[in-house]
Amino acid sequence: MTTASLTAPAALQADADWWRQAAVYQIYPRSFADGNGDGIGDLRGIISRVPYLQQLGVDAVWLSPFYPSALADGGYDVDDYRDVDPKIGTLAEFDEMVAALHGAGIRLIVDVVPNHSSDRHEWFQEALASPKGSNARERYIFRDGRGENGELPPADWTSIFSGPAWTRVPDGQWYLHSFATEQPDFNWKHPEVHEDFLRTLAFWSDRGVDGFRIDVAHGLAKDLPAELPSTAELKEMPKDGSHPLWDRDDVHEIYAEWRELFNRYDPPRIAVAEAWVETPERRAKYASPEGLGQAFNFDLMEADFAAEHFRDIVTDNLAQSAVTGSSTTWVFSNHDGIRHATRYGLPPREGRPVKQGAAWVAAGGPEDGIDRELGLRRARAATLFELALPGSAYLYQGEELGLHEVAEIPDEQRQDPAFWRTTAEDRGFDGLGRDGCRVPLPWTRSGSSFGFGEGGAHLPQPAWFADFSVEAEDGAAGSTLELYRSALRLRSELQGAETLEWDEELSGGDVLAFARPGGWLSVTNFGAEPVALPEGEVLLASSPLESADDGGLLLPGATTAWVQRSA
Ligand code: NOJ
Ligand code: CA
Repeated sequence: MTTASLTAPAALQADADWWRQAAVYQIYPRSFADGNGDGIGDLRGIISRVPYLQQLGVDAVWLSPFYPSALADGGYDVDDYRDVDPKIGTLAEFDEMVAALHGAGIRLIVDVVPNHSSDRHEWFQEALASPKGSNARERYIFRDGRGENGELPPADWTSIFSGPAWTRVPDGQWYLHSFATEQPDFNWKHPEVHEDFLRTLAFWSDRGVDGFRIDVAHGLAKDLPAELPSTAELKEMPKDGSHPLWDRDDVHEIYAEWRELFNRYDPPRIAVAEAWVETPERRAKYASPEGLGQAFNFDLMEADFAAEHFRDIVTDNLAQSAVTGSSTTWVFSNHDGIRHATRYGLPPREGRPVKQGAAWVAAGGPEDGIDRELGLRRARAATLFELALPGSAYLYQGEELGLHEVAEIPDEQRQDPAFWRTTAEDRGFDGLGRDGCRVPLPWTRSGSSFGFGEGGAHLPQPAWFADFSVEAEDGAAGSTLELYRSALRLRSELQGAETLEWDEELSGGDVLAFARPGGWLSVTNFGAEPVALPEGEVLLASSPLESADDGGLLLPGATTAWVQRSA
């Protein structure tokens, strides 16, 4: 195996802890920037926008899948883990992109999808062409069906995107796919699966990639008994490490292998787990320094804009990260969620299981069902709150423009399998699906696809994108883009030790205030009525401040201010 890569410039190599408090910008490549005008974002487009990322002030980019794919699930159906989709670019362009990012002082994290490949992956094609019981079939999870002629699936399981989780192949056997039909699950009991992923991780590490985002990290290890449990039985089983499908204790043996590989590089490659688990304690296992090292905490994506929720979430997650020695992650928006400017403009969600905002999207995004201005105002306040916290902040492309979710996508243009695998009657957690946060970004006020590229855009962009374009916001006082730029610049200057102290004097009711080392204070007013702002130098505010009668400053509702007090 190859050891240390020398592609990162010296300035970037120096700090093995760079990830602990990084601001990481997620690029969904097919929707970021289109370099050749075919309507699909690509690596050329990303390279052309490196100056934009540098000006924004992010420390790293997380790149969602760019591998060859038929896009049955937006690229999370991977045909070949060690190549670039020809529709997106070439390996040479990938190297060019790494050099451009590193040259701008920006690290790169790439997405790895180890729970399943696509059905076009050469191993799955080989499995289809090979007989039952063959080595090729053993790399995936094949079973005989039930019923007299095996005509019934091996179990009644449903996929995460709805519809059956087992699909029959021509010779009568069935394979497991936890997600779309085109995403067969790997069998991680097979040594070749282990070897192949180690090869993939080394392949990208050798090309200078700084880290990995691990998709469905809680799903790889499975232990299926000969007699498969029913869905009802599965639901009853505890998720304590012994569940046959999810968050098994033995999944960490895989990550221990990976850690050994990561640590052969200088600086060690980093990894962040997407792990949906039952408790924060179980999440912490993924963040262990002997394992992946960091894990996503999605709590803020699910919380209402309320002081007590935010405080509980921060307190719990800081306590958890102290246990593992990892740093905490924060995220409000990503390619799977409803954008936070929209969520916060909607009435609080009533109950589960549909995600917040999904019902509004399903209703066609009615204007009388949302307060867009308030939503964005709260989103900006939430982001300043987030960027003042210790730990790493994961930002999703377009949130720096204050983009709302796009609800106005005609059914026939939707791409998400979570939409296509359901009917109006059985829409699950994702509602109409996740296309509304994946619409290509607006770079200019007008022109073809709002400057996304010379051609069209692969998902329809609404007319209101013009006012949220980079062109409209660049240099405009008070714009969301300028707020993010200022916040990220200040954050990198102010960020110190990973500690936080609640300011009990200021906090209470709708107000939440905390101090960071060096006298940096973040105060958020979650309510509607203005409150007095403490003395000190105001560094930045998410909305304009007001003046009090006594000459002091007031923090209006749904606003965060950063104040510098004497250290
Ligand atoms: C999680 C990814 O974030 C999501 O986009 C994808 O559909 C599933 N994993 C399956 O890979
Ligand atoms: Ca393109």
